[in-house]
Amino acid sequence: MPDPLSRGISPQQQAIEEELVRTVTASFDGTADGRLKELMQSLTRHVHSFIREVRLTEDEWKAGIAFLTAVGDITDDKRQEFVLLSDVLGASMQTVAVNNTAHSTATEATVFGPFFLQDSPEIAIGGDIAAGAPGEPCWIEGAVTDTDGAPIPRARIEVWEADEDGLYDVQYGDGRMSGRARLHTDEQGRYAFWGLTPVPYPIPFDGPVGKMLESTGRSPVRAAHLHFMVTAPQRRPLVTHIFVRGDEQLDIGDSVFGVKESLIKDFTRHPAGTPTPDGRNLGGKQWSRTRFDIVLAPAGA
Ligand code: BEZ
Ligand code: FE
Repeated sequence: MPDPLSRGISPQQQAIEEELVRTVTASFDGTADGRLKELMQSLTRHVHSFIREVRLTEDEWKAGIAFLTAVGDITDDKRQEFVLLSDVLGASMQTVAVNNTAHSTATEATVFGPFFLQDSPEIAIGGDIAAGAPGEPCWIEGAVTDTDGAPIPRARIEVWEADEDGLYDVQYGDGRMSGRARLHTDEQGRYAFWGLTPVPYPIPFDGPVGKMLESTGRSPVRAAHLHFMVTAPQRRPLVTHIFVRGDEQLDIGDSVFGVKESLIKDFTRHPAGTPTPDGRNLGGKQWSRTRFDIVLAPAGA
């Protein structure tokens, strides 16, 4: 297989390009911080390989700089377009993969996303996270255990999700807090709460990342999901979601590559009037139910 960096390039030209890579890489030789040196030298090699492999034109270089400038321009303390760019390039998920290495039966991690809030309300087991957010009620229950199957009492579970219109509370910009809460497992490691049956929704696509998706024929839509962050002493923190089996978006594709087969759950639908697990009266609404058992890896795994 011919080297993609030297395909169709004369040996003289190849030598010029390789000499530049060597010179730039060597410019970081004196970096005192060994890790920073490794990062900068590897970045240099990869950026140069990209430019050489695609034979980047000067107009393309300018377009790339204009794109990154637009990503910076729209970024502020509420909108992080660089993270969104990392998400749609799969770079966020690759970083999640590298940092949450597969461990025994531990639940798989997935992308964090921009809609977590530090101070969501605490609810009791069986409480409702919707807090007025519209959508079909969904009973979510499960247990948190370690990889030996031992229950983890008092594990902290934070959950957040979009409403039936595909919007998180923070996207309304009116200070509401809904569709999110935190709760703790009981002495047997069990938890349960009412939430909303997740629906597919688009990531913010009104900026340069959205334009890039459009020009490449990609959809901004995420498969329906519910976010979890689970922490407990001596356990590796877990940031993950559950997805809805049968959601068509699972076949079309998740715009940020967050789906793992092990995280797709059955959500069983129950007609209006069917008794609920905790006897709650849903006032004639249909509802759904799912189970998500969570296994935490040991800290440092
Ligand atoms: C989310 O699931 O909330 C999300 C993830 C990545 C980018 C945008 C939104
Ligand atoms: Fe989300």
